[in-house]
Amino acid sequence: MAAPHAVVAVEEGSSGGGEGLIPPGSSTAADARRPQFGTRFLTDPRQVFQHNAWSVESNMDNVEWSEEQEASAKKKVSENNQPLPPEKQEEYDSRANEYWNDFYTIHENRFFKDRHWLFTEFPELAPQCGRSRERSGGVVDVDGDFPGSSATCRVLEVGCGVGNTVFPILKTNNDPGLFVYCCDFSSTAVELVKTNPEYDPERCFAFVHDLSDVEADYPVPDGTLDVIVLIFVLSALHPDKMQASISRLARLLKPGGVMLLRDYGRYDMAQLRFKKGRCLSENFYVRGDGTRVYFFTQDELHELFAEAGLEKVQNLVDRRLQVNRGKQLTMYRVWIQCKYRRAPVEPPEEQD
Ligand SMILES: C[S@@+](CC[C@H](N)C(=O)[O-])C[C@H]1O[C@@H](n2cnc3c(N)ncnc32)[C@H](O)[C@@H]1O
Repeated sequence: MAAPHAVVAVEEGSSGGGEGLIPPGSSTAADARRPQFGTRFLTDPRQVFQHNAWSVESNMDNVEWSEEQEASAKKKVSENNQPLPPEKQEEYDSRANEYWNDFYTIHENRFFKDRHWLFTEFPELAPQCGRSRERSGGVVDVDGDFPGSSATCRVLEVGCGVGNTVFPILKTNNDPGLFVYCCDFSSTAVELVKTNPEYDPERCFAFVHDLSDVEADYPVPDGTLDVIVLIFVLSALHPDKMQASISRLARLLKPGGVMLLRDYGRYDMAQLRFKKGRCLSENFYVRGDGTRVYFFTQDELHELFAEAGLEKVQNLVDRRLQVNRGKQLTMYRVWIQCKYRRAPVEPPEEQD
């Protein structure tokens, strides 16, 4: 692959990833714009192997690949798209939570990352939740007694794992009206969240929930959440179950509430690295440990959110060049970041 036009060096050791959970120290193009990363520009492509990782410096909305790069990635994917037999597919689907339980039993919370990008990319998670109330024209009245029912700002993280997002929110967001819900279909992960010394039941409620089970109740009524966070979780669902899951979640949002997503993008290096025999369906794979991953395009995600009745606030690609100096190889991490909002309530028309 050719080097991109203008890139800037990012911290050493930010690659990681293998077939790809979230790479340790993963960060975004916004991080790359911060001063600590913005010291070296690759103006001469022959210098590309001088560093392990480069972040493409540009409006990350639209860092285009060359036709040659796109064709090469496409070819690689098409060489490896023979799906596994239906019975294997069924097994990976029906036992999905068991594979994730096994994952967390082995790794416990060693996958904890310093998510320094979290509040840069998603300022909605910082203490300013009230803005959604302003947008929606006031506090939404809530009936009933449920965890966090008296809160003025409610955030739900779905597929929370061991709390890589939830604990930084609780630590950073000191809004006294904040209440954070988090769920995962891995009971092992939820147990790790609940036994974390930073877990505070006065401010947080962790529960086991399968996102793809759209009949299952959430512990909050519809129309009561300010923010829903999905970080590298939608990609773990069978593609056929994504739409219903997003539509179900969208109903939980207040008018003006927002859904935030960061997930794997099409032709991420993790996709190109899958060996033959790991493909479940187009762009959907199973890792060696039985966990699954889909690689999205921006358009696919837009369709999912729009069909759920949400309005686009942001939908962008963050492409980052990774360099293997030993093998003299260059590859890209590709992530997609989305923000979609439930329409604020229109103010009632004034009567004469
Ligand atoms: C790649 S991990 C990301 C974990 C966490 N969001 C983070 O960023 O550290 C994917 C998570 O989604 C969870 N997950 C996968 N499918 C799910 C489903 N159908 N319902 C709820 N959680 C699910 C897994 O158990 C796992 O914790």
